[in-house]
Amino acid sequence: MKTLANLNQMKQAGQKIACLTAYDASFAQLADQAGVELILVGDSLGVVVQGHNTTVPVTVEDVAYHCRCVGRGVRDAMIMADMPFMSCCSVEHAVKHATYLLQTTAATIVKCELMWGQASIVRALSDNGIASCAHLGLQPQRVNKFGTYAAQAKHAGSATDLIEEAASLVAAGVDMLLLECVTAEVAARISEQFPTVVIGIGSGNRCDGQILVMHDILGLTHKPPIFSHNFLASADSVAAAFAAYVRAVKDGRFPDD
Ligand code: KIV
Repeated sequence: MKTLANLNQMKQAGQKIACLTAYDASFAQLADQAGVELILVGDSLGVVVQGHNTTVPVTVEDVAYHCRCVGRGVRDAMIMADMPFMSCCSVEHAVKHATYLLQTTAATIVKCELMWGQASIVRALSDNGIASCAHLGLQPQRVNKFGTYAAQAKHAGSATDLIEEAASLVAAGVDMLLLECVTAEVAARISEQFPTVVIGIGSGNRCDGQILVMHDILGLTHKPPIFSHNFLASADSVAAAFAAYVRAVKDGRFPDD
């Protein structure tokens, strides 16, 4: 099974890390066989599996269920469990729910959408031996508050804020950063500045790795995000589409500028 140490070595060696979401054993097995290093059981399951308009209705139990399904299909990839809406809003919530996800599923790391001032959550997870990934930039769980799914860190001030936020999380012991819809320049700076693995989605091609939602790369999403790409359109099977995605990430062909 891939570990954080493996991904950190890949970063140091300048090798791109291919990540994908999956929610069940069959697709997770195909992603694993295609060479994906990290599978995220994302709360995007609320939209692509459950049919909600947002990720807000997803519960910890939903994520745990899908992590267990994914775990049965995976032999090598690292599995990351998403912490759904309000499950990591305080140190107590975060430690309790992360413990549950790590003890009852095959996940070995949890991902949290965190804001300024929440480094104490990462610190508590780290102090208790829980590996964490901080999801910064566009945070879909906050859509009802922000009312938009717009690109982040577009202005000098917000770019500086984001870099400082990343610095505070790295200092608190975060093990991975996931940058969603952050401008390519800022994502590149964060990837270069910190030793922590940085995975991008819609954040340019200079992150240490890339992640996409499985349904988007298979052309199953009604309105896919513009930064995504339908890899099934030029492949003759799901397995070939996943393999094409992994190759494109590793060769640095995806995403383009
Ligand atoms: O929930 C999810 O699938 C995610 C990805 C969009 C990174 O957070």
